[in-house]
Amino acid sequence: MTASAADILARAALPVLQRFPPETAHALGLRGLRAMQRFWKSPPFPANLATEICGLHFAHPLGLAAGFDKNGAYLDALGALGFSHIEVGTVTPRPQPGNPRPRLFRLRHIDALLNRMGFNNKGADYVAAGMQRSAYRGIRGVSIGKNADTPLDRAADDYVECLRKLYAVADYFAINVSSPNTQRLRELQAPEALADIILPLQQERERLGKMHGKRVPLFVKISPDLDGDGFRDLCATMKRHRVDGVIATNTTTGSQTLRAMAKDLGSGGFSGAPLAQGAVGILVELRREMGEEFPIIATGGIMDGEQALGRLRAGANLLQVYTGFVYRGPALLTEILAALPHVAD
Ligand SMILES: Cc1cc2nc3c(=O)[nH]c(=O)nc-3n(C[C@H](O)[C@H](O)[C@H](O)COP(=O)(O)O)c2cc1C
Repeated sequence: MTASAADILARAALPVLQRFPPETAHALGLRGLRAMQRFWKSPPFPANLATEICGLHFAHPLGLAAGFDKNGAYLDALGALGFSHIEVGTVTPRPQPGNPRPRLFRLRHIDALLNRMGFNNKGADYVAAGMQRSAYRGIRGVSIGKNADTPLDRAADDYVECLRKLYAVADYFAINVSSPNTQRLRELQAPEALADIILPLQQERERLGKMHGKRVPLFVKISPDLDGDGFRDLCATMKRHRVDGVIATNTTTGSQTLRAMAKDLGSGGFSGAPLAQGAVGILVELRREMGEEFPIIATGGIMDGEQALGRLRAGANLLQVYTGFVYRGPALLTEILAALPHVAD
């Protein structure tokens, strides 16, 4: 069975899944993918789509964003669809339940989701063991964060503990300091706070690198809601401390209009189409601030092939999808991969 057969099956399954509450649909969808995974066979990717970032070989630019496979339990099933990379997590040192349900909402009429999951995950040990068992051959990113009950001034300990526990199974780490759903987490984007996390992580990486014989790059995932000064400070901090790359962006707490539209649903981060414009703006600014060579992974509102192409043309090295994949399933991968060769034109 080919990836296009996966598209057809998914096209039939998606309307059924969307009758369930979003989090139930997510769990059912993942289980369905796993049940069918041995039947998929993603087609070989054109060699001109391959790209090398920080010494890592990506078969093509398109990956799955963090939060879809929180525990790295579905790497094989998701990998079989053809993602070049999958970002597992966000993982915290200790398991935690996340926020009370409901905490994930569809805003179908505007191609968006609202979530306040709050890093629900089974903890770093569990995730590391599962990833060890996986046969996924693409690039494995691991997004790391702090437990909800860890005070902000001890956050670095949590990030370092995750690094230690997951180093052997990770190809890159994403330092998540931008989720709106863990109280005060975004304060960790401020220059001193970020340096206080990056420096111990780099020190520990030095030690682990020798032990494991590999240097795992550290990327920072940023918020789309920073103001101009906050953004420039963040860029300066990433430059000063030689961060390996950036993932832009996480979900947005939204404009007033967007918040008004979803006021009955409570707080959270918006993803999908309403995020696109802001995410592109940040991508363009990042490329300008950080220079030509700096690795940038673009995510936020990539809902079709045209958006994907636009991000690459605006300077992204890699792309990640989440909400578009929720609504469109594997057909989105097919469309984006078909659109990409035109980059070479
Ligand atoms: C339900 C849900 C859970 C998410 N969980 C995480 C997470 O744990 N860590 C993270 O870095 N980003 C998380 N994200 C953000 C996505 O990785 C992505 O940055 C964002 O949704 C923008 O991409 P999109 O518009 O394609 O969805 C989550 C998004 C959604 C919708």
